[in-house]
Amino acid sequence: MTIKNVLIMGEDLLFQRAHEVTEFDTLTLHTLLEDMQDTMIKESGVGIAAPQIGESQRVIIFGFTHSERYPDAPPVPHTILINPEYTALSDQMISDWEGCLSVPGLRGLVPRYEKIKYTGFDEMGKKIERVVEGMHARIIQHEYDHLEGILFPQRIKDLTQFGFSSVLLEKIRKGKKQH
Ligand code: NI
Repeated sequence: MTIKNVLIMGEDLLFQRAHEVTEFDTLTLHTLLEDMQDTMIKESGVGIAAPQIGESQRVIIFGFTHSERYPDAPPVPHTILINPEYTALSDQMISDWEGCLSVPGLRGLVPRYEKIKYTGFDEMGKKIERVVEGMHARIIQHEYDHLEGILFPQRIKDLTQFGFSSVLLEKIRKGKKQH
């Protein structure tokens, strides 16, 4: 069990495109996934991408039954997703408050596609394909962005809707905006 240090905004690696995984079911991959899992649990995150613990690999994990960080969010199944891709199933976008372990203490209102189809592989190389919406779709788009070297503040349309979670509590409780 290894809890890794989470890189925070400013680190070059967080702004770089991560490398494709070419081999599945390897010791390196299993170890990476364990470290990501341990780190995500320690930090109470709902998802984490490999670059956040310093590994330039297209690997994300996510999921929770109840989240302290997002107490109103419906559960999302625990998933390992490697070399993910997604496509929006409609142009509909929803703005909601987002945070990130690499941007500690801050939240911003970020528009994301409401409904998407995503694909990827598990650690054994088995294909995963799902159609999801809401929080689940938001997490995929957020974590996928990490693999492209994008952090959520870069997606905020109105920077007056970006600030410290401790101050934004009331706004966050009011929730999402329809476009
Ligand atoms: Ni993040």
